[in-house]
Amino acid sequence: MTVTMHGSPAIGDFDGADLDMLIRKGFRPVPVSAVRKLTPEVIGIELTLTEAAELGSAPGAHLEVAVPLPDGPAIRHYSLLAGPADSLRVAVLRDYHGRGGSAWLHENLDSCTSLLVRGPRDTFGYEGSGPAYFVAGGIGITPLTAMIAAAVDARRDWHLLYVGRRLESMAFADALIEEYGPDRVTIHITEAAGRPDVVSAVEDWASAYDEPTTVYTCGPVSLMRALEIGFDDHSSITVISENFDDHNEVAAQVRSALPLGGTTSASQSCNSPTAPHATEATAMEADDDFVVELGDGSEIDVPPGCSIIDALKKAGVRTLSSCQKGTCGTCETVILDGRADHRDSVLSAEEHAAHETMMICVSRACGKRIALDL
Ligand code: FES
Repeated sequence: MTVTMHGSPAIGDFDGADLDMLIRKGFRPVPVSAVRKLTPEVIGIELTLTEAAELGSAPGAHLEVAVPLPDGPAIRHYSLLAGPADSLRVAVLRDYHGRGGSAWLHENLDSCTSLLVRGPRDTFGYEGSGPAYFVAGGIGITPLTAMIAAAVDARRDWHLLYVGRRLESMAFADALIEEYGPDRVTIHITEAAGRPDVVSAVEDWASAYDEPTTVYTCGPVSLMRALEIGFDDHSSITVISENFDDHNEVAAQVRSALPLGGTTSASQSCNSPTAPHATEATAMEADDDFVVELGDGSEIDVPPGCSIIDALKKAGVRTLSSCQKGTCGTCETVILDGRADHRDSVLSAEEHAAHETMMICVSRACGKRIALDL
């Protein structure tokens, strides 16, 4: 069944049951007020803040956007740009190797009057004091624009290194230079100058300060890893990164100090025989089977090597997911009874220990049964 909602093709394109699930999971329609082409591959989307979408967000927060793809709703994560308080602005890079979410937005938004969104969610972790060095690669500039605006407001000392292949593909280069000037913003074009030595750039800048410097970085994994490795255990430079995973369609937030799927006291308390990296084949093979009890009392078997999400899908139960790696938070599900063997890197150690929710794309049950609000 297709639900028809006048003037909102994005919402009307969802299957009725999917739409119900999205609303139940906290998604809400937000009017699209403008769509602009920023570069040949990047569009800017402006959403109007309504009473239903009363939002206050931390710099670097992101929105979850539901996209009606043929095989069900896809959830995409887009960082909020700096901008006026009565609107939400995101930028979407068209990913020709992705799973279709960004392509759908590029091809259909002209005729949409609203989008289903949830959030904003803040998992980047901007901290408001001390010198800040921002390193952006390509579309990774988006969360940093809001952080830079916050740094300016706080009169914090800061610098931006914005890396891109070509100037024409860097959606915000001209605007940032114009607003803040070349003393604050360094544009690095790799086609002309090769890969930047980001570690040296940060070291040179940070050496002028007695206080510790925080580096905020978002972009290709190689860029972020260079910084994380370069400043691993550094006494006065800390790196906080946002990982645009899966061809830039999924934003997964990872502090460099926290390994993906890192061991937590909560997961160890299950006496799980495996390390908590559920995506590793060896770990999956060693998992035990268990039963998930749904809200209506029905039961789904989850065999070894199969995630809860996959078991639910096979049984025809609708769920939401995005990264499938325990890093984005989209699949967070309330635990009604039982305890989870947490393997995500979204929830804190305290949240793991509370066993109130779990990421069902990677986490499993402690023991043979768990009841979930599904
Ligand atoms: S789908 Fe991203 S955490 Fe589960």
